[in-house]
Amino acid sequence: MEKVDLERYEITGRLGSGADYDVKAATDRETGLQVAIKRPVPQAISRNQHQAIEARTEKILQAYDEVGFSTDLISPIVGYTEPAVHDAFFGDELGTEYRVVVEARASGIPLLGDMMSKFKGVPIGVGQNLFPLFPLVKPGSLPPHPIHNQLLDLEEVYLKSGYMILDLRPQNIFYQPGLAQMTVIDTGALVRLDDDPPRGRPPFDINDACLEIIKFYTTPE
Ligand SMILES: Nc1ncnc2c1ncn2[C@@H]1O[C@H](COP(=O)(O)OP(=O)(O)O)[C@@H](O)[C@H]1O
Ligand SMILES: [Mg+2]
Repeated sequence: MEKVDLERYEITGRLGSGADYDVKAATDRETGLQVAIKRPVPQAISRNQHQAIEARTEKILQAYDEVGFSTDLISPIVGYTEPAVHDAFFGDELGTEYRVVVEARASGIPLLGDMMSKFKGVPIGVGQNLFPLFPLVKPGSLPPHPIHNQLLDLEEVYLKSGYMILDLRPQNIFYQPGLAQMTVIDTGALVRLDDDPPRGRPPFDINDACLEIIKFYTTPE
């Protein structure tokens, strides 16, 4: 992970957007690497309400530097920029400074494509990702329950450095069924175990990570 000059990337399309980040597809002109370029959602930037997202980005970068780089269960962060006005690169006129993060493009398919499901109350975690989670045919060459196990492996790596990744919703997970390999593409909801918990709740611990997995990746008997 290093400071990058966005000029080396050519935007080729739009990958998606969540509550916090607007994500473009781009290609590295020097190496041909396919990347995802993330910035705070323009609606927040234009109202100068992106400070909380910027703080989140700082935390993501710090945790990546401490532990994230050591696992292939999240998309590698290639680089980041200093806070600056990036209007020329993105082709808009926001006139406000923000930081941009460049990640490797995740392979595979998201376990769930539409982030609006969260707001519409669609029961995610059952229908849409039932087959990757509980395949009818289980090739003997692949380990059982790959998604659950890799999520636990990822939490274990972060926990050893005093972090936990929350928000394991299926929109944030890309999966390659043929390889049984998952990649978490959004580590924005990070907690440091030694940070003060939000007022009125007990300190975060391993149970909060397990709860995320139960919430999204188990079905009732
Ligand atoms: N590394 C990546 N590779 C491919 N698609 C990505 C990548 N990162 C993000 N995306 C797409 O952009 C969307 C929003 O990115 P995300 O980091 O989840 O933002 P938010 O924190 O706002 O939810 C994702 O749901 C996904 O579709
Ligand atoms: Mg997300």
